[in-house]
Amino acid sequence: MMQIIKVTRLPVAVSCSLALMIWICNNDVNSDSCGANKSDSKDIPSVFPSRLVPPGLNEPTKAWWVKEVTPLLHVAGRLSERQIKYAAEAGFKSILSLFPYPDDCPGDCGGEYLPVTTEEKKMVESTGLQFVPLLEPLDEWSSVEAVEKFTSVISLMDKPALLHCDRGYTIVFVVLLYLANQTRYDPNFEPRIHTKEFYEISASMGLDFLSRIPVEVVSEITGEPAINLKDETVPRPDYDPEEWLDFWYAHPVYYNWFLAGQIYRSHLEPLKDFGYKTVINVRSGVLHNSEPNQEEVNLLNIKSKTGTYGNGLNPGRQFVERLEETRINPQLSTLYISPTSGVNYEQRNMHEFGDDVGYNETLERIAVEKSGLAYYHFPLHENLDDFYTYMAENRDKLLEVGRKGPVLIHCDSGYRSG
Ligand SMILES: *[C@@H]1O[C@H](CO)[C@@H](O)[C@H](O)[C@H]1NC(C)=O
Ligand SMILES: *[C@@H]1O[C@H](CO)[C@@H](O)[C@H](O)[C@H]1NC(C)=O
Ligand SMILES: *[C@@H]1O[C@H](CO)[C@@H](O)[C@H](O)[C@H]1NC(C)=O
Repeated sequence: MMQIIKVTRLPVAVSCSLALMIWICNNDVNSDSCGANKSDSKDIPSVFPSRLVPPGLNEPTKAWWVKEVTPLLHVAGRLSERQIKYAAEAGFKSILSLFPYPDDCPGDCGGEYLPVTTEEKKMVESTGLQFVPLLEPLDEWSSVEAVEKFTSVISLMDKPALLHCDRGYTIVFVVLLYLANQTRYDPNFEPRIHTKEFYEISASMGLDFLSRIPVEVVSEITGEPAINLKDETVPRPDYDPEEWLDFWYAHPVYYNWFLAGQIYRSHLEPLKDFGYKTVINVRSGVLHNSEPNQEEVNLLNIKSKTGTYGNGLNPGRQFVERLEETRINPQLSTLYISPTSGVNYEQRNMHEFGDDVGYNETLERIAVEKSGLAYYHFPLHENLDDFYTYMAENRDKLLEVGRKGPVLIHCDSGYRSG
């Protein structure tokens, strides 16, 4: 029986996927550990005061790709403009870019443009957040100096802070060693990170800091002896694809199983290129028991959880009247949406398979199948009360899918209202 040790977590309890994740690890449909208040949800490692309290981000479905290290310090890979806006709407107060991206180094993820540092600075500041570029082009990142630089700025940054590098690897190294240095010099500092925790936490995040970086840097900061690379008790991540971080948005669960919130249209090509075989979608289809049952799609400057469909009092979520009412910030400039937008909110989101009602699973299915990835739709409509039946029905299919290679299993943010 596999013991699951997760240290980072999604910005919300991703109930649907979380349950699957526990199931994958226990592989026992009748186990009580699949219940909502799992008896095995420990604070692991116990250095973190409490992992059972939700991180408190607003708009968690928009920021599912963010990984929490501490409640005030979250990490990510290189961001698109949309993700910067999502981060602001989710409640981050500042963004730090570990690396500088010179003007001739724009990034790209499946056709989605990733801004260079000068552009990122403008975008971040225009959303009202503080922007901090950390390293200079010639700085060595796996160094005591990089951690020192981080230490000198982090106390001045507004929190919660979103800290990013290219793929969420280097930044974790720097953040954990910052925490380790604080642990060393401040007896009251929490969480307490020593060499042991440094390697445990990074391995549980799926990150290998043993084969790629000098163990002496860790030792110099913690003030403890360098780890022996032959020591088999030091945990090492084991994932397929090995370079799973190429799709850094995912949360590794176990071997070739990865979790996500709502993936983007632009993610499909990279997923295929990086070696994924299958996408499993557990969100609702457009119908449930022959009734319309579309979930909400993320919309810029529009609150979530306002209800896809109308009722006697309100029109549907994507009608102008309702959109105007449910804006996150009614004062925003229309430039927030685009140079040509006449309104300061988004009305459709094709990028996340939205139509003019909400999230449209058919659109995702068509796009995933076209990309050459296998697609399965195992909708989990209800809350976890129905989970045992659900697993009993889908268990064999899931096991078979897992044998074909890397699987990305996703929902939106996970919690199902009503
Ligand atoms: C889970 O725990 C919370 C907090 O202790 C409690 O309020 C809630 O009722 C529990 N839920 C179940 C299903 O036991
Ligand atoms: C560690 O913390 C001390 C005390 O705050 C500080 O002076 C030093 O620069 C820090 N070192 C690193 C590597 O961050
Ligand atoms: C969902 O998308 C499909 C494919 O474009 C479309 O045919 C359908 O009308 C959309 N809406 C619903 C409710 O099915």
